[in-house]
Amino acid sequence: VASPEKHLIRRHRHPELNDQIEKVLDSLKISDEQLIHMMHILEEEMNAGLSPATHKKASVKMFPTYVRNIPNGTEVGQVLALDLGGTNFRVLLIDLHGNSKIELTSKIFVIPQSIMIGDGKHLFRHLAECLEEFMEKENILNSGTCYPLGFTFSFPCQQESLASARLTAWTKGFSCSGVVNEDVVKLLQEAINEKGINAKCVSLVNDTVGTLMACAYKDPSTAIGLILGTGTNACYIESLDRVGTWDGDYNEPKQVIINTEWGAFGDNGRLKHLRTKYDEEVDISSINPGKQIFEKMISGMYMGEIVRLIILDLLQHELLFLGHRDTYSDYKAALYNRGGFYTKFVSTVETDEGIKFSNTRRVLEDIGIQNPTYDDCAIVQHICRQVSKRAARLAGAGLAVLINRIGKSNITAGVDGSLYRFHPRFKRNMERCMESLVNKDIKFKLTLSDDGSGKGAAMVACVAERIFEHDKE
Ligand code: GLC
Repeated sequence: VASPEKHLIRRHRHPELNDQIEKVLDSLKISDEQLIHMMHILEEEMNAGLSPATHKKASVKMFPTYVRNIPNGTEVGQVLALDLGGTNFRVLLIDLHGNSKIELTSKIFVIPQSIMIGDGKHLFRHLAECLEEFMEKENILNSGTCYPLGFTFSFPCQQESLASARLTAWTKGFSCSGVVNEDVVKLLQEAINEKGINAKCVSLVNDTVGTLMACAYKDPSTAIGLILGTGTNACYIESLDRVGTWDGDYNEPKQVIINTEWGAFGDNGRLKHLRTKYDEEVDISSINPGKQIFEKMISGMYMGEIVRLIILDLLQHELLFLGHRDTYSDYKAALYNRGGFYTKFVSTVETDEGIKFSNTRRVLEDIGIQNPTYDDCAIVQHICRQVSKRAARLAGAGLAVLINRIGKSNITAGVDGSLYRFHPRFKRNMERCMESLVNKDIKFKLTLSDDGSGKGAAMVACVAERIFEHDKE
């Protein structure tokens, strides 16, 4: 039976063009065998990241996070959290009541582009100013209490403890000067102190770790945290005896959460055989060429751009928008804008079922293509489906590596991020491909982890604060 998308494309008024379109899209197809091969490579790369002999050169860094304990719902306390890592920055005040009840207030702030690529000092000053504004609004600015603060900082960091973390590289469009190789907890604390704010940063976590923690709070079989948003990354609970780079104690529990930073998988060329010319173009015109190769094939920051480049390619080969040759150059102008096709459009286009294509039409009109034909809509939807399906299969294969590695009979992965949340079939596509990639004796589940990067950070901060108080005594 032909798949529905084939069926739609087959209706093209110019059937001879279908094959040519398929040929262009062929480079995006990754077979199950190729996925299995990629899983072997990823596993090797992960082992390289965990071994002291190879860690320095490894692409997949596998950073130990110093988070050893999973919350159990009894955590009590009131903490602040800062969440920096995507397009928005959030400040949160979180009350953990100890009976699995969490109360939370938060405010979103925008990080202007000029700050994202400016001086690091300005970035941290901006964060402290947002914190001050939020505390003022919540009436806790001059309360005389020093608030513990958990920092969710979603970039690759080499940690030396819960509250010290050196940034190894910026990702996702950030490139502030003077921060790489510095301890970001220190930079944040200095900015907080400069403003005279009564808060102490007691812990730093990656968003994947926050996601794992928040999900584990409700479901004790959680062993993985996964983000599919602006960027992509995963963390998981690893036994200490497999972490060659571990330099902490070996007390119980003999485990630590590893932040894989799998977005950098392929930075050493090992994914070359799976990349298309579109992936290469996205990479070359990015702020960090050669870096985050796996991430650039999957995550929201890049997906729309891949689709745009394919549309442009089909247009240049006269395989798309055929009915409008008179206004052809206008389309080109619209489509020549880098970033002009948003990733959220991919989700919108794929929500169309059937033959009306009302959403797809709206999107195409949005980018300047007036009165698109049925064929135009069917082809654009087909492109979106191929690109997002490839991303889901790559992420699913990555997740399968972690699940097989953990090897327990029941494993939950907490997942968050805009791509996973809003794309109509990302989850389904991931699960479908994972069925044949995960070892048969393992039952796995993907659970949407609600607001993990905020709540999870608060849980870690709560535990850290208790240790901190204890040390003071
Ligand atoms: C990027 C960051 C990583 C983060 C991910 C998801 O890959 O390097 O730290 O977890 O994006 O936000």
